[in-house]
Amino acid sequence: MGPPGAGKGTQAKTLAVKLGLAHISTGDILRQNVAKATQLGAQAKEYMNKGLLVPDELVTKMVKDRLSQPDAAKGFILDGYPRNLKQAESLEAILKELAMGIDFVIDLDVDEKTVIERLSGRLACKGCNANYHIKNMPPKKPMICDNCGGALYQRQDDKEETIKKRLEVYRAESSPLIEHFRKENKLQQVFAGGDPEIVLNKIIELVSHDCHKV
Ligand code: AP5
Repeated sequence: MGPPGAGKGTQAKTLAVKLGLAHISTGDILRQNVAKATQLGAQAKEYMNKGLLVPDELVTKMVKDRLSQPDAAKGFILDGYPRNLKQAESLEAILKELAMGIDFVIDLDVDEKTVIERLSGRLACKGCNANYHIKNMPPKKPMICDNCGGALYQRQDDKEETIKKRLEVYRAESSPLIEHFRKENKLQQVFAGGDPEIVLNKIIELVSHDCHKV
């Protein structure tokens, strides 16, 4: 969890590789659907471009299908879902059916000034979805992905007005989940304003510590 630009995608991708888990990002799946002009993509596009949440029923069905795929059976990192209390309830029901559960909720805590600076400089890869930043995490070759050689682009929803709307939506709809997961004793908060490696190490420390307790 965390506001737009907290580093959810950056951290979840690296962590998934390190821990051998599936990385499931609802934002990435929705963007792939928009790029392929699927029916779901056509339904989601307008909401995404306005910085609004895509309707719960569309996203929840998509998550249910993705979690039922074989690679998720060994464990997964969900990035960008759940995003409101209704989605949290749906997730609980889906996981119950699959005889699985949530081990940890990592909340990446970062101030809004940092978020705006990060998102206005973000570059994403069309090929593998890797994230870069013009100043903080530049690619080795301009506008080319280090991982796959794909072209880098600026996301439609990273315009200033849309970033502000996404932050508003986060405050109103997603931030109540912090309290929800705290009450469930699943929440771990990490200061995410530092270097990506420092943030990653802190997450690994928390996850390993709690794994040892289990
Ligand atoms: P989504 O793609 O999930 O967007 P988001 O939550 O707004 O988050 P971002 O992807 O913008 O940020 P991030 O936290 O992943 O940061 P990142 O690692 O990229 O969702 C997009 C849209 O899809 C939503 O608005 C909605 O419409 C829809 N949607 C998705 N899920 C949904 C759901 N469950 N329900 C309904 N609708 C849904 O990093 C950002 C930048 O900062 C990068 O440039 C990166 O290089 C840089 N950076 C990262 N970490 C650091 C660091 N530590 N130091 C310096 N720079 C850093």
